[in-house]
Amino acid sequence: MSDDVVTIFERSREGRRAFVAPEADVPDVPLEELLPASQRRERPADLPEVSEPELVRHYVTLSSKNFHLDEGFYPLGSCTMKHNPKLHERVAALPGHARLHPLQDPEYAQGALELMWRLQGALAEIAGLPHVSLQPSAGSHGELAGLLLTRAYHEDRGERRTKVLTPDTAHGTNPATVTMAGYQVVKVGTAEDGGVDLDDLRDKADDEVACLMLTNPNTLGLFDRNIEEIAEVVHGVGATLYYDGANLNAVMGIARPGDMGFDIVHFNLHKTFTQPHGGGGPGAGPIAVSNRIEPFLPTPQVVRADDGSYDLDHDRPKSIGKLRGFQGNFGVFVRSYAYICSLGGDGLEEASKVAVLNANYLKARLAEEGIGEYLPIAFDRTCMHEFVLSGRGAKEKLDLRTLDIAKRMLDHNVHPPTVYFPLLVDEALMIEPTETETKERLDHFADVVRSILEEAAEDPEIAKNAPYTTPVRRLDEAGAAKRPVVRGSPQGGGSDPHPRGEKP
Ligand SMILES: Cc1ncc(COP(=O)(O)O)c(C=O)c1O
Repeated sequence: MSDDVVTIFERSREGRRAFVAPEADVPDVPLEELLPASQRRERPADLPEVSEPELVRHYVTLSSKNFHLDEGFYPLGSCTMKHNPKLHERVAALPGHARLHPLQDPEYAQGALELMWRLQGALAEIAGLPHVSLQPSAGSHGELAGLLLTRAYHEDRGERRTKVLTPDTAHGTNPATVTMAGYQVVKVGTAEDGGVDLDDLRDKADDEVACLMLTNPNTLGLFDRNIEEIAEVVHGVGATLYYDGANLNAVMGIARPGDMGFDIVHFNLHKTFTQPHGGGGPGAGPIAVSNRIEPFLPTPQVVRADDGSYDLDHDRPKSIGKLRGFQGNFGVFVRSYAYICSLGGDGLEEASKVAVLNANYLKARLAEEGIGEYLPIAFDRTCMHEFVLSGRGAKEKLDLRTLDIAKRMLDHNVHPPTVYFPLLVDEALMIEPTETETKERLDHFADVVRSILEEAAEDPEIAKNAPYTTPVRRLDEAGAAKRPVVRGSPQGGGSDPHPRGEKP
């Protein structure tokens, strides 16, 4: 049996086990008494039956096929793939953290509630906004929370607004969330210096606008110098100003969104606060809000009583309600709290400064390599934690697409930067080295880019057919996104089983 091709279901043989559950030491209550018929399965779940060695081999083999941060440089712009300290895994795995049941009575979960309360306090301080909810499960979920809060805030004032402004540099989740929340997306243009086009903003800001969603620094890696004026325009029409906190790692400990005039902020704990990035989770995207938004925060809120005990406050009459099961992803909170405590305020500030320094160093190194002819900087200013190159020179002069350059990087054991985003930059490459990389790694990346361009000047076909050294060669990425096969067959085979006949 080749380890390469089989799914865990194909490894399955009836009766094999990796784990034997201990004898139950509680009364055996018939299932019918525990669950209503509508919630009971008619037959057992189709789970693979495998021995522990086979199980371990399967996942180790899969993990070795994936490029990961513990293997090499991963400068994925906007996604902040920085090192996740191993200490966090140890504290998250402590039995008091890992084995706590989410339905535990608050009286017996005081330590967990205190950790959450302290994390809320730290995030509030970092954002410069007084109130925090840890509930949302991801940045995009925080965005949805922010727009639901915005709607609740306006409705409470007897207003019904229909539009949300998003700059054309915005991350795709911003307009997607706007649509999901039932608002209409209105794009705002970008000025010559890479910031929000103030004239366009003034034109579009009216009393139909509920909110402007903005990240600062933006997705070009540029700090918007007009942020106070932007806040004035937005607040002037009674709208809220929403901070997409994906880029907070460039300014934490230095500048605070609350001081810039933002009303609502989301944090990507898996970016700024060193969580492992999971394929869609488990993550956390807490939100911080100003006093006027506080009454609408999700329920329950973690609170501390005067006697120093902690509890969950469900009594929130104006709340937008619950956003997810239980209180959020607790293990994620433990890791981020460990990060904040181990760095302290000064350490967080230093992390931001080094992230900015590393990005500017790499930008200068690439310019030194003379690559500007092929990959010019999109907006040539001192950048924050990331910067964007345009591949238009390479396309015109070498007949090379950004995708080809990205794929060839994999053969040099470097994960490609984010490509083709932001959309307003032709053939974009968005590079975020992060603060956890050494000067040698950054130098190596600059050498890799130069060598790919030199090689392409000789023979562009090499990059066009890359990668050569990865477990799979060039993939049909559009097909994978549009027609994903995400479910294996319990009977074996990785083909699309769709047992209930539905198509993705
Ligand atoms: C600028 C920006 N906003 C929002 C998000 C969404 O965050 P999440 O992936 O946690 O949903 C991302 C994620 O990549 C991002 O880069």
